[in-house]
Amino acid sequence: MSKLGVNIDHVATLRQARGTIYPSVLEAATICARGGAAGITVHLREDRRHIQDADVYGLKEALSIPLNLEMAVEEEIVAIALDVCPDEVCLVPEKRQELTTEGGLDVAGTLSSLESVVKRLRNAGIVVSLFIDPEESQIDAAVLLGAPVIELHTGTFCDASGVVADRELVRLQRAAAYAASRGLQVNAGHGIHMGNITSVMQVPHLDTLNIGHSIIARAVFVGLEAAVVEMREAIEGVGKS
Ligand code: PXP
Repeated sequence: MSKLGVNIDHVATLRQARGTIYPSVLEAATICARGGAAGITVHLREDRRHIQDADVYGLKEALSIPLNLEMAVEEEIVAIALDVCPDEVCLVPEKRQELTTEGGLDVAGTLSSLESVVKRLRNAGIVVSLFIDPEESQIDAAVLLGAPVIELHTGTFCDASGVVADRELVRLQRAAAYAASRGLQVNAGHGIHMGNITSVMQVPHLDTLNIGHSIIARAVFVGLEAAVVEMREAIEGVGKS
């Protein structure tokens, strides 16, 4: 059965918008766990636009479910990751001006610079995941690096419609099958919402779906726990059929 990991960055976005102490990301994480989230993800961006260093330390201390830290391959953030020791780190590309992560990490094109970072994180006992586009060359590179987990970037599929969406879904399906055949754990994330989750679940071998924006947006209307339950039940419901 595929699991739901909830990205709570945008709880911090609300807080940072006013510089208040609320809403609390710790409280949000607790509510997500109550709703059946299998893990919590936060992205500590270089520009600290939402999640702050103290959030990561606080979550690691308080969480009863695994913490997945999304981060760029930047020495300052790597040092924090090695200090906090989250259960999992997901390496992502990061650009200052982007609204959100755009595209996957070019693992194949940056093997040598990734090698030592992946090794240091793994030596600290952290599970390393690489956020990649659904391409065989990127999967082969992840295997070469010894990363046990990949997260397939679903954003292109989720933003598309018609024949482009059909083509992107096939790419995701093929990539997931290939990654699983190479012994990798396959996660997926980006742009997933209640309107496309049924399609995303047609991708085989999905271990964890990391979903943020749509759940936090839905929480405005139904509350965070209900929004998490809704998405988790959608994932589990499709998984059963
Ligand atoms: N996975 C990764 C690697 C991401 O960068 C993001 C966005 O921070 C997500 C999942 C969650 O995406 P969304 O907020 O669109 O659900």
